[in-house]
Amino acid sequence: MNKDGEKITMLTAYDYPSAKILDSVGIEMILVGDSVGNTVLGYDNTIPTTMEEMLHHTKAVARGLENPLLIGDMPFLSYQGSVEEAVRNAGRLIKEGNAEAVKVEGGAEILDQIQKIVDSGIPVMGHLGLTPQKVYQFGGYQPRGMNLEEAKKIYEDAKKLEDTGVFSIVLESIPSELGREITEKVDIPTIGIGAGPHCNGQVLVFHDLLGWTEFSPKFLKKYADLISTIKDAVKEFREEVKSEDFPTLDHSYKMSENFKDELNEYLEENP
Ligand code: KIV
Repeated sequence: MNKDGEKITMLTAYDYPSAKILDSVGIEMILVGDSVGNTVLGYDNTIPTTMEEMLHHTKAVARGLENPLLIGDMPFLSYQGSVEEAVRNAGRLIKEGNAEAVKVEGGAEILDQIQKIVDSGIPVMGHLGLTPQKVYQFGGYQPRGMNLEEAKKIYEDAKKLEDTGVFSIVLESIPSELGREITEKVDIPTIGIGAGPHCNGQVLVFHDLLGWTEFSPKFLKKYADLISTIKDAVKEFREEVKSEDFPTLDHSYKMSENFKDELNEYLEENP
């Protein structure tokens, strides 16, 4: 697709029914992001997300997919500490979670880990720019690469990641000019989220694009307003139960005439 100039689509998914929908409309890559932590598990950010949680959700998503490439995100401190731990945890996402590739956040500081995972036969996706696992170090979610020193590091990291053999790189919250420059200089596809229109593909968090979170960064386009839709539906259910408009007999099961007679006979004998 990249060679043909066709843009690549990627979305996050955390469960079986969402995975089935994304597959049915032709999304090419599904990421079980560690954003599962803040998006559906209620954590403040991605930091607390564990390997066990990633495995639980990756397995569920895998059961709903036939066509897309399934990428499992490696959570905070599942790969930074040592090469051995990185390979073991990447392997768990593949062997137990049924992912087909893994994603890691970072550049030069984790090249040894990435190299060993790739050499083990596991496809790796990189992630540069605003890497949310560094939120405390960055001091927030401001875009990255907005000064020369940082832009140079991201650019150089992208080339180093390509050299290790990663198959693609997510670029998050960087100026579009830097997104374009990296996209032109590396041969592997760049997948942007807040990195401008020039990347080879785009990724969003499923719940964000559906308007199912309150999250509203500049780069996000909400394609639906699911919070309102869900609220309206649930409010209507509540009102109809209170007013006794739901359920009606149309929503109820009915006994056959024979069964009714038998039951009445029994009830008469057993008052
Ligand atoms: O965890 C995640 O959802 C991600 C995407 C934003 C790329 O890393």
